[in-house]
Amino acid sequence: MNNENALLAGGMTMLAIATSALVVIPYLQLHDVKPTPGLKPYTTAELRGRGVYIANGCIYCHSQQPRDSSFAPDAKRGWGRAAVAGDYYYDSPHLLGTMRTGPDLMNIGVRQPSADWHLGHLYQPRAYVSGSIMPSYPYLFDAKDAPDAGEKAITLPPGYAPVGKVIVPTAAALDLVAYLQSLNRTGPVLPPINGAAAR
Ligand code: HEC
Repeated sequence: MNNENALLAGGMTMLAIATSALVVIPYLQLHDVKPTPGLKPYTTAELRGRGVYIANGCIYCHSQQPRDSSFAPDAKRGWGRAAVAGDYYYDSPHLLGTMRTGPDLMNIGVRQPSADWHLGHLYQPRAYVSGSIMPSYPYLFDAKDAPDAGEKAITLPPGYAPVGKVIVPTAAALDLVAYLQSLNRTGPVLPPINGAAAR
């Protein structure tokens, strides 16, 4: 009987340690975090675009977490300052990512603000970056004889559109590009809260 109690007590202790390490301590460190100054909530179109980003698995190749210069030369690569907790204030779920087959996209809206470039690059990455291994996303576009009223065909480098057709972005492609353009975490970093949050 003694042994059973010891087992139960041990199990409960381990559970309590795990719960504090993974739930309670992170909550105490982060529940007061404020958005980085200048960070705006996503618009409805940008949020839809975020859904397209998730649905198409962009996260499998792109991180959204520039690192400190002591970890990686991300600032030198032009990916921006090291991310802090407040940068993710409006991100649910966050899209930190772990793979960097392609560049970090946390500040792509600053690095590449052109909607035309993004649309063309999503339609055919190799039209812009020769030898790119990023997949093309042709199903986010329609090939038509001419754009319908209110539509705008994308401009591609010569030779990349099917002969005699124009390429028109779907609503999903436009939303995705609105989301990419919104990615801008270049605001100043707030001083840490109780020395914890901005670590
Ligand atoms: C299989 C890996 C892979 C996937 C999946 C992928 N990418 Fe990429 N991406 C890359 C690589 C590699 C590059 C660098 C070459 C280039 O620019 O095409 C890149 C480049 C980019 C760039 C330009 C970055 C810069 O700094 O110039 C953007 C924007 C981008 N990807 C967006 C996306 C979006 C949006 C998706 C999802 C719809 C996506 N990627 C899916 C691999 C990937």
